Amino acid sequence: MADFSPPEAAVLDRLKAIVGDGGWREAGDAERYFEDPRGRFKGQARLVLLPGSTEEVSRIVRLCYESRTGLIPYGGGTGVVAGQLSPEDGNAIILSVERLNRIREVNAQDFAMVVEAGCILENIHAAASEHGLMFPLSMASKGSCTIGGNLATNAGGIQVVRYGNARDLCLGIEAVLPSGDVLSELNPLRKNNTGYDLRHLLIGSEGTLGIITAATIVLKPMDPETVTAFCALSSPAQALRVFEALRKSLGESLSGLELMSDFGLGLVNAHFPDLKNPLAEPDDWYLLAEASGLEGMRERVETALADCMEAGLIGDAVVAASEAQRAKLWDLRENTPEANRLSGAICNSDTAVPISRIGDFVAATHAAVKTVHPGLRTNSYGHIGDGNIHHNVFPPEGVAKPDFIAANPGIIDAVRHAIDDVTVQCNGSISAEHGIGRLKTGDLAFYASKAKLQAIRQIKAALDPHNIMNPGAIVAE
Ligand code: LAC
Ligand code: ZN
Repeated sequence: MADFSPPEAAVLDRLKAIVGDGGWREAGDAERYFEDPRGRFKGQARLVLLPGSTEEVSRIVRLCYESRTGLIPYGGGTGVVAGQLSPEDGNAIILSVERLNRIREVNAQDFAMVVEAGCILENIHAAASEHGLMFPLSMASKGSCTIGGNLATNAGGIQVVRYGNARDLCLGIEAVLPSGDVLSELNPLRKNNTGYDLRHLLIGSEGTLGIITAATIVLKPMDPETVTAFCALSSPAQALRVFEALRKSLGESLSGLELMSDFGLGLVNAHFPDLKNPLAEPDDWYLLAEASGLEGMRERVETALADCMEAGLIGDAVVAASEAQRAKLWDLRENTPEANRLSGAICNSDTAVPISRIGDFVAATHAAVKTVHPGLRTNSYGHIGDGNIHHNVFPPEGVAKPDFIAANPGIIDAVRHAIDDVTVQCNGSISAEHGIGRLKTGDLAFYASKAKLQAIRQIKAALDPHNIMNPGAIVAE
């Protein structure tokens, strides 16, 4: 991280004055802003600011620019690559957008909603549904992540196969640039070719080029029928064949496709005893598939699954018969990361490969992990429809995580590199949906081309010449 000197007391006083009483917290009184969701380390900062308007954000940034004070933008705190917290340098200031939480406008004719950065994703879902519409970005952290963080990281989640990533669902943004100037481009336009698209530069920039304060997001018609199925199969390569078959029979209606393993289901069940495998005949792998559309969808999904069964692609299968059953199936999937954490995962990956390579990728990764240490066990799960599988790697059965790490120094990095190497050999990306943050800066520097790294550095230097915006994220000093 950039080595900032501590902000002067006078600067801290002026920052507090901008937000007023109730708009800031001393670091000692703000523990939750320093928590890593996976409990790996603690962040640090001098002060936490909670501005209540874009104008306040602009004044804060201008002062930080003048005083060369580092700012870390903070949404819901759910990011897993330390983009929102700095473990090494306590001199920066956290700027939380939580009080920027108004839904400014819902415009059903434009199929658009203007939301402030601190709006919680689940509240956006609820506001859209009040108008008979939906916002399709969704993920397990929807109850606490914010749209500002979703856009800053170009979040993916569980419906990308049909609706794309956060980037694909954003028509415009309002952002405070490192100079303190406000870029206001919130018009709900479907076409707008007027020079560089700064919206897309800021989306996915992880707060390193500016602070997104509001966005105009895309709403979609609400489908009358949503059908969720769970089926057993023998391998990820087989899952790919099922994907092809479902895409042919259900087309654009297929809105979610998640891979899970029998090993992973066992971990979920061990920590959440109410969550059980719903199938009488287990297999090594499972597919959670969801489709939504006009009435008649259930019949179409059942026919498609029956065809897959007849073709020998899947074994046992169940189609949720009620909303409660549907929720239970998703609970199995959405509690997987927590079950991994509770089971002592030493490594969790987020890589993507071309969909066609999934079968080779999973097999080659499992083999590569075993080469690092033959006792390691891997739970692979995730967004197979996007080529984005997460691998969680565990110590040998019966060996506690701290003991294993102590006995095998360097093993965490070795596992991560093994997974990344296989990913790159499969023409993949070392960060699919979580971003680079502070945890993957070394990996980005290692795997990205010289041309790409240079362009990233040039853009950063041009827009943020004093490196005040989330210093140390994406590009380490
Ligand atoms: C998930 C998170 C870890 O898909 O991206 O569960
Ligand atoms: Zn994921």
